[in-house]
Amino acid sequence: MRRTVVAANWKMNMTPSQAEEFINAIKTDINGADNEVFIIPPFIAIPKVISLLEDTDVKVGAQNLYFEEKGAFTGEISAEMLTDAGVEAVVIGHSERREYFSEDDEIINKKLKKAIEHGLTPILCCGESLETREEGKAAEWIERQITQDFDGIGREDALKCIIAYEPIWAIGTGKVATSDQAEEICAKIREKLTQLYDQEAADGIRILYGGSVNAGNCAELFAKDNIDGGLIGGAGLKPEFTDIVKTGSPN
Ligand code: PGA
Repeated sequence: MRRTVVAANWKMNMTPSQAEEFINAIKTDINGADNEVFIIPPFIAIPKVISLLEDTDVKVGAQNLYFEEKGAFTGEISAEMLTDAGVEAVVIGHSERREYFSEDDEIINKKLKKAIEHGLTPILCCGESLETREEGKAAEWIERQITQDFDGIGREDALKCIIAYEPIWAIGTGKVATSDQAEEICAKIREKLTQLYDQEAADGIRILYGGSVNAGNCAELFAKDNIDGGLIGGAGLKPEFTDIVKTGSPN
């Protein structure tokens, strides 16, 4: 039985004061849900969001970390800084990081290991471009990403991870993958995890779908056998996020 995850990735949106206003408005509605809920603000809003959500069961995540422990890495944030601030999860390998900040699977693998070492729950993103999908190579692409991102990560550590399948062509475009397209790739990810680890481990790892998820389409997506929730961008900045939090069949 995998508990459904609903995570709002705010990306580079919400100043600390906007975050305060928004959290105050939705706080009661997102607390106490059957689903496991994460709010993932920009770094600078994290302390405020953590203190506002202190008396709830909502968890706070970060959008990135650096793979080194500490030192002369201007502009970067370490795993220890995140855990010390009360952060519980971290998004790793989002396609925007891969595309705009040149993160490759080797870097993502190092970040994944660093997050696990510090007890942060990684939300590892993978996803194919429209070109790759049109070439019929989506599954192959994702399997390669998963294999490289999990390189050298043992079974017990893999079980601590959450994976988010986010087709790049569906992110922020309003062009959601059909529930069957999303399910097909999430099932392939589980198959790959079975090969890398074993069936029991693969069955224990939560796999989310992300890309234009909203209150209107989430129920159908979350009801799929291999989709265990959603990584939500745009709709995570709006009051409709509360409806997504309340949706879902634990599978
Ligand atoms: P979107 O973003 O919901 O705005 O498409 C999803 C994501 O990038 O995590």
